[in-house]
Amino acid sequence: MTSVETSLPILEQTTRYYTDFPETSYVLPSDEKERKRLVFQHYLMKRGFDQRNVHAPIILKSSDKVLETGTGSGVWLLDLATEIPNDVEMQGTDIESKIFPVPETYPNNIQFSVHSVTSLPRAWTDRFTLVHQRLLVASLQDAQWHKAINEIYRVIAPGGWVQLFEASEWPAGPVSTKHRALLTALGRQRGITWDCHKYIPRMLVDAGFVDLKVVPMETPLGKWGGEYGVAHRKNLIEVWRGMKAPILKAGGFGFVNSEQEFDQLMADLETEWDDTPGSAFTYITWCAQKPL
Ligand SMILES: C[S@@+](CC[C@H](N)C(=O)[O-])C[C@H]1O[C@@H](n2cnc3c(N)ncnc32)[C@H](O)[C@@H]1O
Repeated sequence: MTSVETSLPILEQTTRYYTDFPETSYVLPSDEKERKRLVFQHYLMKRGFDQRNVHAPIILKSSDKVLETGTGSGVWLLDLATEIPNDVEMQGTDIESKIFPVPETYPNNIQFSVHSVTSLPRAWTDRFTLVHQRLLVASLQDAQWHKAINEIYRVIAPGGWVQLFEASEWPAGPVSTKHRALLTALGRQRGITWDCHKYIPRMLVDAGFVDLKVVPMETPLGKWGGEYGVAHRKNLIEVWRGMKAPILKAGGFGFVNSEQEFDQLMADLETEWDDTPGSAFTYITWCAQKPL
């Protein structure tokens, strides 16, 4: 951890809440602003995937059970609940409960609880028809990815499916290249990699999953991509801005030397995306089955 002496002053620090879950490397906030962003992001991603929440080749029926790990605001579960029978058991878990939905806003076949995906309840072995996990790239260290995928395998019923969704590549102009180097330095400090998409297929196979399916989705970033590109720009820049406090607390890694410089980098990124036709961010969904 970087000492207090090396950290840069942050005005916005007081306005963002970061989870205090023990020993997590997670770099994004868990507050109301982030909850709203996650809801916005969910519908944006769903639009990119033909309005589908489930890509695994299954139709959920009454006796089925669904788990979402790293559920955040729970928006995926709540949305899925409107599409499937109302007696499918649905569980959402996360290391932080602050942005779970309030109980009055969801049906009683959904439950939320605090668990790390690296350590799910023993009683859940062989339980779920479908486990969904989306965007834990900013949290899990290499060894934790292996643990997480093995835990997910354990809690899926034989014949059940996993569905993972993660960030993949994003092309770089010079500003993006500088920002990517900053993220790499942050990742190194936290023990996280931004390249988990390269290892996920191997990890799934090693855990025992079969019938791997890969669904990539390229999203435009910036004005050149019309209203959809602007929406993705808005979402992604909020993701990067959410890392401001961890970056400034660590002293900026030699890439930014003040909060103003960080804010300028964000503004320059947006301009670069707007002015560079072809700027895009690719996400990938993987589905795989636990053998019968
Ligand atoms: C970027 S958010 C995505 C939330 C949700 N999956 C979605 O797509 O809307 C990542 C979430 O993962 C949670 N998280 C981070 N590390 C975790 C872990 N080890 N186990 C479970 N959840 C974790 C964070 O608290 C946060 O809610």
